[in-house]
Amino acid sequence: MAYLSSDVNKVTTKILQRMRDENEKIAMLTAYDYSLAKLLDIARIDVVLVGDSAANVMAGYKTTLPITLDEMIYHASSVVRAVERALVVVDMPFGTYQGNSKDALHSAIRIMKESGADAVKLEGGEEIHESIERILCAGIPVMGHLGLTPQSINKFGTYAVRATEDAEVEKLLSDAQLLEKLGCFSIVLEKIPAEVAKQVTESVHIPVIGIGAGHDTNGQVLVLHDMLGITQQFSPRFLRRYHNLSEEIIRAVGNYIEDVKTMQFPNDKEQY
Ligand code: KIV
Repeated sequence: MAYLSSDVNKVTTKILQRMRDENEKIAMLTAYDYSLAKLLDIARIDVVLVGDSAANVMAGYKTTLPITLDEMIYHASSVVRAVERALVVVDMPFGTYQGNSKDALHSAIRIMKESGADAVKLEGGEEIHESIERILCAGIPVMGHLGLTPQSINKFGTYAVRATEDAEVEKLLSDAQLLEKLGCFSIVLEKIPAEVAKQVTESVHIPVIGIGAGHDTNGQVLVLHDMLGITQQFSPRFLRRYHNLSEEIIRAVGNYIEDVKTMQFPNDKEQY
């Protein structure tokens, strides 16, 4: 099928805005390394997010909090070397933007300079508006992230659905409008009721990308390792698995082990 984005050689924030305005849904996935990012770009994904979910799926931490700025820059620069077409957005890790806005700008500049990414993503609304403003003033595009914000897990104590009560819905709506007013080019909405996501999406003019936020947002994002079935334990309701790669990898590795042990590998043609 032909989409507005089909002819685009490089996805920019302006292209995402056009996609939203012309009702073409935006497809975003995470990637953290060169090889998989290359495949996503060949498949013509619109946005590659170098998510701080790298802390979970790449490093095995229970939360996203421990990943450092240096580690995010390492993942981001690997992804940037692979991607020619997609917009590359990088998560600012916990502790690099929530305090002093000058430190936030310094962290964002390091990400942009050292990785070559196109934009950064920050979790939160009103509480971090000074950091967002300062980063935007430096000409760095910012994607917001509202709803379930995993970097605040210790405040909320659970990864349950957010914005189920009126006060939180009100704050979500006002944060989304604030992010748009400040100049964010897009907002991620994570794990909130579909009806609330629809309301938020209709209340702003910038693209809203959902994860566990129903089908009325302007696009969707999933963690690559979850949707490919590489991770096995994580099964929230919103996750659609497009493959069961873990089974295939375990089977292939098992076959290799068997071939090595039984001296079926390498054969005569597989040697010099
Ligand atoms: O880190 C991440 O992968 C994310 C997505 C879940 C949106 O922020």
